[in-house]
Amino acid sequence: MKDLFGKALLDYQNGNYTEDLITSTSISDEDELPLPYLFRDFKDMPVLEQKALKLANGSVLDVGSGAGSHSLYLQKKGIKVKAIDISKGAINVAKQRGVIHAVEMNVLDESESFNTILLLMNGTGIFQELSQVSKYLTHLKNLLKSGGQILIDSSDIKYMYEDEDGGFWIDTNANYYGELDYFLSYKGEKEVPMKWLYLDFNTLKLACETVGLKCELVLEGEHFDYLARLISV
Ligand SMILES: C[S@@+](CC[C@H](N)C(=O)[O-])C[C@H]1O[C@@H](n2cnc3c(N)ncnc32)[C@H](O)[C@@H]1O
Repeated sequence: MKDLFGKALLDYQNGNYTEDLITSTSISDEDELPLPYLFRDFKDMPVLEQKALKLANGSVLDVGSGAGSHSLYLQKKGIKVKAIDISKGAINVAKQRGVIHAVEMNVLDESESFNTILLLMNGTGIFQELSQVSKYLTHLKNLLKSGGQILIDSSDIKYMYEDEDGGFWIDTNANYYGELDYFLSYKGEKEVPMKWLYLDFNTLKLACETVGLKCELVLEGEHFDYLARLISV
């Protein structure tokens, strides 16, 4: 990983904002990801994220914390947060912004336990593919303190396969339709391609049942997106 994501965050943080990140996927064309969005305040967050932050309690693990926007909000509310991210640049930025406990780490290497685990901005993305969902969910479940919760958002991206006649062009012989190849570039440089997973609510719920988690739908967004709350059964 070249950490272009972290490089872009560092540029923005250090006042060198000249370009946005360019993203595309195996089923969609290039799009801009505005850097200011990754530094959003509570008021600029989607309602699903605001709801997740309101539900967060006890000790919190912010997984894939990026520039640390969610962690900062919780910290200011007096909540104890640990922000983790595999991006060195992102962790550097989160620290510069004032996140007290920010660690460069893969969630699979985390071993402390928490009352609340947050995975926001398509939190299922880090699972990468359907075959890995059980592994990640089992690990996350094992990090929960008694009575703890996982708050995670995602979207049903079936709509992205809809053609003009209202039909769907999903290849039923292919993998799950939410498994995408994700491409990112910044200032003309290309990141190593990644896998990024969107999960519809029912598929997430089924996966949760297989690992002993109860999956509740907390809130639906305006565009096939949702926030789920997972608790141990
Ligand atoms: C879409 S960004 C979301 C950032 C932040 N949560 C936000 O809402 O602004 C996803 C983040 O997850 C991080 N990430 C991806 N896989 C990870 C893993 N296995 N463990 C920890 N962080 C991961 C990426 O580096 C990236 O910063």
